[in-house]
Parts: sequence; structure tokens; C-alpha cells
Amino acid sequence: MRDISRNLLDQSASLRDALQRLNEGVYGAVFITDAKERVLGMLTDGDVRRALLAGAALTDPAVDSMNREFVKGQVGAPHAENVAKLSERVRHVPLLDPAGRLVDMLSWAEMLRIPLMQPALGGNELAYVSDCVTAGWISSQGEYVQRFESKFSDFLDGSHALAVSSGTAALHLALKALDIGRGDEVIVPDLTFAATANVVLHCGATPVLADVDQSTWTLDPNEIERRISERTRAIIPVHLYGHPCDMDQISAIAHRHGLKVIEDCAEAQGARYRGRLVGALGDIGCFSFFSNKVITTGEGGMVTTANPELADRLRLLRDHGMRRGRRYWHEIAGFNYRMTNLQAAVGVAQMERVQGFIKRRQEIGEHYIARLGTIPGLVMPPRQPWAQTIYWIFSMLVEPRAAGLSRDELATELEARGIETRPFFYPLHVQPPYAEAGEFRVSSYLSSQGISLPSGNEISAQEIDRVCDTVLAIIENREPSQ
Ligand SMILES: Cc1ncc(COP(=O)(O)O)c(C=O)c1O
Repeated sequence: MRDISRNLLDQSASLRDALQRLNEGVYGAVFITDAKERVLGMLTDGDVRRALLAGAALTDPAVDSMNREFVKGQVGAPHAENVAKLSERVRHVPLLDPAGRLVDMLSWAEMLRIPLMQPALGGNELAYVSDCVTAGWISSQGEYVQRFESKFSDFLDGSHALAVSSGTAALHLALKALDIGRGDEVIVPDLTFAATANVVLHCGATPVLADVDQSTWTLDPNEIERRISERTRAIIPVHLYGHPCDMDQISAIAHRHGLKVIEDCAEAQGARYRGRLVGALGDIGCFSFFSNKVITTGEGGMVTTANPELADRLRLLRDHGMRRGRRYWHEIAGFNYRMTNLQAAVGVAQMERVQGFIKRRQEIGEHYIARLGTIPGLVMPPRQPWAQTIYWIFSMLVEPRAAGLSRDELATELEARGIETRPFFYPLHVQPPYAEAGEFRVSSYLSSQGISLPSGNEISAQEIDRVCDTVLAIIENREPSQ
């Protein structure tokens, strides 16, 4: 839902006030309201234009030119019913509450927008969630949590799988289960979502940043070794953008130095390293089910391990340090990182379709590469021969000199054409909580040139073509400077 407060004007507003608001880009329509904020009428660019052409002055009251008979939708009505009111002619549908106040707005332009990511919730999600509600099992007890964990374990390789409240919670629990704390150091890639490093800080330990490798965009094994000290306890390889890290090399280093390996698989469920699924390659695997991930539970995560003692400790820590069967007796100081039955119900439905989601992401990646792979200045994502990437979100680099424009310029131009994109993460070493001196050449380079393109599970081939056609048209209009 957006902030619609800028779309509201009171009855004293002039046509100039209305035009000014419209000019600020408030979604193409403003609304005149009474003292109780009930909508009396609507004004679009076209309404103001027609009023001026008919002889109105900019100082005239906007109420004289507003449209009182506008098409409106109802908050609480099915989304599809409200959307069906949009057409080439009716380009804005305000959603009003029963009192007639503006709550949200649908716009035609937005219907044509291609979002970066979109969850696919068209399977059994609704049925399973309503099952929980009907049965009254909405907290963390209930059969869906076990079903979800068991499906996830089958998906992986039979490892123990514990559902938790987020990917961040999974990572935090993993460090806690390994007893990592004050005085310890953990090696983390400089290019990742910050949660990977935050959890280290929350344990009282120090994240030690290592640069990434240009050929995988993930932790560079050569950089790890240089960062190891007598305080180092663990390494967190992050399978960034769906491409696995070089796990044999990382495991060999960990083995040599007696370090634990926690895989951050938040962006890589289903990716394979030399045929083996990520999440089962280190001591502990951590997954995220935020809404843009391969499968989603809204918020949620999974922590996996083949080690039964670690699984037991993770389970204890997840639930306040209490064991089932001995309520209010705390063996250790734990957390409440449990997943709810409601989330797990969505998770079970998502797992029923997970193989299709993974395949679709790979197809989306291949489609983009087929269309954009030979364009000078565009660098395609890594694809090591030993890796089966899932292109979690299709991401590429824009080299300004060859492409004729920067990543940010491309993003701005795509946004203006209704195509949502996202820049890469900032390198951690430049951000206040993790600031670290030193050279992080590759992560800095990737961070400044990386852009992610729309890759939702339900994006159509036509939409991918529209993104590619638009990228190509924008680039063709630029002069490469080399
Ligand atoms: C690499 C990485 N690690 C950890 C997380 C944290 O997961 P969550 O948002 O579920 O806490 C995310 C993403 O959201 C991520 O991309």
C-alpha cells in the first residue's frame, strides 16, 4: 500500500494547488475531501486541462472542475474485482473505505508495470491457511510446521530441518548453536545482504570481511585464508544471487584451520555445487522465505544440519532453551525463533511446487542471457561449469564505458518505463557497523555496476522480452565512450 496522503486536497484548494500536486507525480490523480476526509470528487491531469481550456482560471476552486461521478473501488472487495474496473478510459480507481475515505489507489500504468519479484501463491496456500484458521492452530504448534520441515528435509537430503521465523533468525541460531560469541571472529563476504554480518555482531563476535571472486560473485577462497587469525571460528559462504560458492575449496580451508562452515542459502534454494544441493555442504545451512525468495512463507526461514547434536541444540535455542515435555525448565538461555503454523501452511503449499519454481528461475535466467548476453557493456551473471545456478534474481553488470550509460542511468530509464530494478548491495566494508579498511576491489566493482532485473516466478516470456527490448532500446540510444 502506498502513502496516499499527498493525493488529498481540501475544498479550499485551487486548480493551481491541484496541478502542483499532480506535477509532484502523485499517481496521476488528486481527491478533494470534506472536513472528515470523505472523498467528494477526483481530478486528473485531463480534468484540469479541460477546465483550463473551457476558460477556468488557475485560481478558481478545484471543486468546480472535479469529477463527482468517478469510478471507485471498495477496500475489502476482492482485488480482481477492483482491478476489473480499470480500463484504457478509467485509468485510476480509488479504493474507499465504507465511510468514503481514500485508502489506496489502483492505476492503469501500474497494471502494465513489471515488478522485480512477485510471490506465486496460486497453489494450496489459501486452502492450507484457512485450514489452520478453521482448526484454530495459528501459533507454532500444529501439523503444518512438522509437514513443512519434513518436506524440506526430503527436498535437501534428509538433513534435519528446523523452521524458524526468518532467514536472519536461522543464521543467528546457527552461530549460537556453534557457541560463537565474544572475542570470536567469523569470515563473511564483503558483498552480501547485511543480515549475514549483523548476526555475527549480535553474538558479540566480529565479522571479518573478505572480498568476493569475480568468477562467482561469492566468497573468494584465496581471500579467506589471508583473513584467518587465531580467533577465527567460522566462515559464512553466501551463495549470492543463486550461484553456489566454491565449496570444496572453502571446506578444505575450514578443515585445515578447524573452522565451522555456515552456508547462507537465503538466495539459492535448489542451487547445486558439483551436483549437490546447497544447504547440505557445510555444518549448518540457513534459508530465507521472505516474499522474494524461491519459496516464501511471508517471513520465515529454515536451518538445516546433518549433525543430530547440532539439530538438538538448534531446537532448544529456537524455543527459549526449553525441551518439549519439560515446560518452563530452561537448559540454556534461548530465543523465540519459532515459525507459526500459518507460515508453515504457506510453506507446505510452496514446497509442493518448488521444483517448478526452481526450473522457472533457471528458464528466466537463460532467457535474459539469450537476449542480452552478447550486448557490449552488459556482463552476464557467473555460470561456473561445476555450478548449477538458479539465478535467484537475474542480475548483471553494466560497464558504463562500453554500454554508454551507468547502472543507475539504466535503472532510472527502466523505472520511467514501468520496469522495476534493484542495484546490488553496498559492500559491507563501507557501511558504518562493519567499516573495515582494506581493498575490496571485486565487491566494490560489482556493487557499483550490478543491477537485478524482474524475475518473479510468474513473469511471462513476453514480459521478459519487454524488459530486454527496453534495455536494448535504451542502450542503442546511447553513444558508447570507447
Ligand atoms: C544473503 C541473505 N542472507 C540473509 C537474508 C536474511 O533473510 P530474512 O530476510 O528472511 O531474515 C537475506 C535476505 O533477505 C539474504 O539475501
